[in-house]
Amino acid sequence: MDEITLPKPDDWHLHLRDGAMLKGILPFSAKHFARAIIMPNLVPPVVTATDAQAYRDRIMAVLPQGLDFTPLMTLYLTEGTDPADVAAAHASGLVTAVKLYPAGATTNSHSGVRDLSKVMPVLEKMAEIGMPLCIHGEVTSSDVDIFDREAVFIETVLDPLRKRLPDLKITLEHVTTSDGVDYVSGADKNLAATITTHHLMINRNAILAGGIKPHYYCLPVAKRESHRLALRKAATSGDPRFFLGTDSAPHVDPLKECGCGCAGIFTAINTLSCLAHVFEEESALDKLAGFASVSGPAWYGLPVNTDTVTLRKRSSPVSWPAKIETGDGPVTVFDPMVPVHWEVA
Ligand code: NCD
Ligand code: ZN
Repeated sequence: MDEITLPKPDDWHLHLRDGAMLKGILPFSAKHFARAIIMPNLVPPVVTATDAQAYRDRIMAVLPQGLDFTPLMTLYLTEGTDPADVAAAHASGLVTAVKLYPAGATTNSHSGVRDLSKVMPVLEKMAEIGMPLCIHGEVTSSDVDIFDREAVFIETVLDPLRKRLPDLKITLEHVTTSDGVDYVSGADKNLAATITTHHLMINRNAILAGGIKPHYYCLPVAKRESHRLALRKAATSGDPRFFLGTDSAPHVDPLKECGCGCAGIFTAINTLSCLAHVFEEESALDKLAGFASVSGPAWYGLPVNTDTVTLRKRSSPVSWPAKIETGDGPVTVFDPMVPVHWEVA
């Protein structure tokens, strides 16, 4: 097979940033994706319906003419979030989901949740109205090894939460471990997971072997090879509970290439090519549409896109710019470290 046509994909976890960066990166997502769940971790974060409306307006204002793209907004859960504001934002169609960042887990997460009991009224309301909760599933305590933070989160936070509120619909975002895959696979209901492109392609050697490589550093951090293989198996299995969320998360190069570099990998530009490469390697090109285009909408109760995207395999490898220029500065593009022959037609 050297050509594959899919319903236009959606990205169920995307960082679009704001201002000049937003303007610089939005076209790459809008070209290949019809919709995306937009992460709310701006500075300051998108907390209220009013914030979400204003952010949505800023996104639509810089969407290039001729590109059809729908941002699906999220609210950043804080210990002060008002359940009524969340419910109204969902009922009006403005907001699709709420995002839970454990405080301190990742970029711009200091106003996240420290004490889950403080947000139970919001979560109870969400369970009642069927609004999904997107979770960054890592504990933050300094005595837990960074490579174990997802597994410990599942055991000590996610599983108790699901037992307490079985009706709450949860998306465990960017799973990076076999523990995450096993937990989601074993859940009876109301749990799905997104998987990023880069976690299907790299393991932690990419970050640390042969010199420190900040452009492969993201959170959750890439794990050892056995975990990457578990993610590949889940993504290509056809199980609709695993679908694409790129977590494309651009930072300008000076903020990555320094003594304390930011977490985040910019993959919006080459995600579809990389995914076709991965699915072909796994002899699962027939499962790509499920992962990138069908299972996400089903989980979020939305129709599959009617537009299509065609991927074509070329004899020579596809190349991308090493960096893109944004109004804020250069952003390095994810380098998959292997020749990729699939291009978006
Ligand atoms: C994200 C960012 O930069 O906003 N970084 C990342 O490594 N994925 C935050 C996040 O989703 O964890
Ligand atoms: Zn993210």
